[in-house]
Amino acid sequence: MGRLVVVSNRVPAPRDRHQPAGGLAVALRDALSEGQCLWFGWSGQQISEHEQEDRDVSIDHVENVTYATIDLTHAEFDGFYQKYSNAILWPLCHYRAGLMEYNRKDREVYLSVNELFAQKLLPLLKPDDLIWIHDYHLFPLGQALRDLGVTSPIGFFLHIPFPPWSLMKALPGGARLMQNMQAYDVIGLQTEDDARNMNDGFSICGVKARAQVFPIGIDPESFAEQAKAGENVAEVERLRESLAGKPLIIGVDRLDYSKGLPERLKGYETFLQRYPEHRGKVVYLQIAPVSRGDVEEYRLLKQGLDEAVGRINGSYGDFDWTPVRYITHPVPRHLLAAFYRLANVALVTPLRDGMNLVAKEYVAAQNKDDPGVLILSHFAGAAPEMEDALLVNPHDADEIAEALHKALAMPQAERRSRWALLQPDVWRVTAGSWARDFISTLAKVKRG
Ligand code: ADP
Ligand code: G6P
Repeated sequence: MGRLVVVSNRVPAPRDRHQPAGGLAVALRDALSEGQCLWFGWSGQQISEHEQEDRDVSIDHVENVTYATIDLTHAEFDGFYQKYSNAILWPLCHYRAGLMEYNRKDREVYLSVNELFAQKLLPLLKPDDLIWIHDYHLFPLGQALRDLGVTSPIGFFLHIPFPPWSLMKALPGGARLMQNMQAYDVIGLQTEDDARNMNDGFSICGVKARAQVFPIGIDPESFAEQAKAGENVAEVERLRESLAGKPLIIGVDRLDYSKGLPERLKGYETFLQRYPEHRGKVVYLQIAPVSRGDVEEYRLLKQGLDEAVGRINGSYGDFDWTPVRYITHPVPRHLLAAFYRLANVALVTPLRDGMNLVAKEYVAAQNKDDPGVLILSHFAGAAPEMEDALLVNPHDADEIAEALHKALAMPQAERRSRWALLQPDVWRVTAGSWARDFISTLAKVKRG
């Protein structure tokens, strides 16, 4: 089998290359543990317009992976990343057409950055490579490579949801985007619903392509080890002491409107209203690192959350009790793992999510003799595989409140039996098995 070439907009920063954070980067690093690989993408750096003439690909070798990255100009970063990818495609794919801020010039920048990726990648390619492109930033990259004469097998995986065509067609140029998918030999999505939506889109647009399902997972073995090893770390000890025996409810999400954070806070507030016996007796820790902070909708979301947390803490808090502990910066992964293990309940309530790895991490981190309870949204891609969680509709604050009440009162025997039903799938479908499945499907492709 040829060398694997992975292309994604986000590539782990040099300091994180041994242990990256963030859904796609974590999953891919776990998946790239074997064989020689090339990982191509954006460096995370911006340059001024006059520096673009002599921008080079920078190369770094870490273990078996060669990282090749390019900088983007300020205008490219704005049009390609902030606008077209994250203020048009992201909301639309998460069923939020109303949040889409379409502008034709951003589409042009998006297409030109995809062409730039193709041109800079081309000289690094070898004839027997397998090329695997990731996520919504790079839908047209396969076609751009074909236009430059690349004949190797090219696969594409979408990490986020794909909506029904009736919604997707709100995107000007949407049909063209679908046409360009013909460049791919294998197209992967997270869930049956996503694949069905994309395939319906293909047939409506007369595109000869077919999407398949490859659900993604985590590396449960190493995550469970980290969670256990973290039990005696000083920070975890501090958190445990600060709880003083109170149960811990945890939420861990990028600060993104797809994660349903305002709705979750409303659910928690309803819980405090309807079940006053829990006031002063529980701690809710929400870790929500700022993400895409310069995109308007994300800035507004943060403002709204800051206010909501302040309001709940002001109304329900006391001189010795803070109802919501709220952190908007990232927490190191080993601590996160141990925090999950300490938490009695995890609230994972996205309005839409491709998969949601946090739900799987929470399950992996538990102590099997005394596991916590996962409250999970029906609208996470992980929900169909995790029906033994407490499934909720995140739009219904009362349902979240009832689930919290039920979770906190759940007897140990029920917690154990639910966990025992959740655990096997988390161990069966991993980041490694996901990548192997996709790559072996791609390797079987005979073009032409
Ligand atoms: P998304 O890909 O939309 O961010 P996922 O739940 O699929 O959502 O993946 C998020 C990943 O980022 C998980 O591996 C999670 O542990 C990590 N992560 C989320 N929040 C934090 C945080 N505050 N600090 C460190 N890592 C985080
Ligand atoms: C989601 C997307 C990824 C993206 C990640 C972090 O997981 O599917 O493509 O890398 O969010 O977002 P960012 O904009 O910081 O890359």
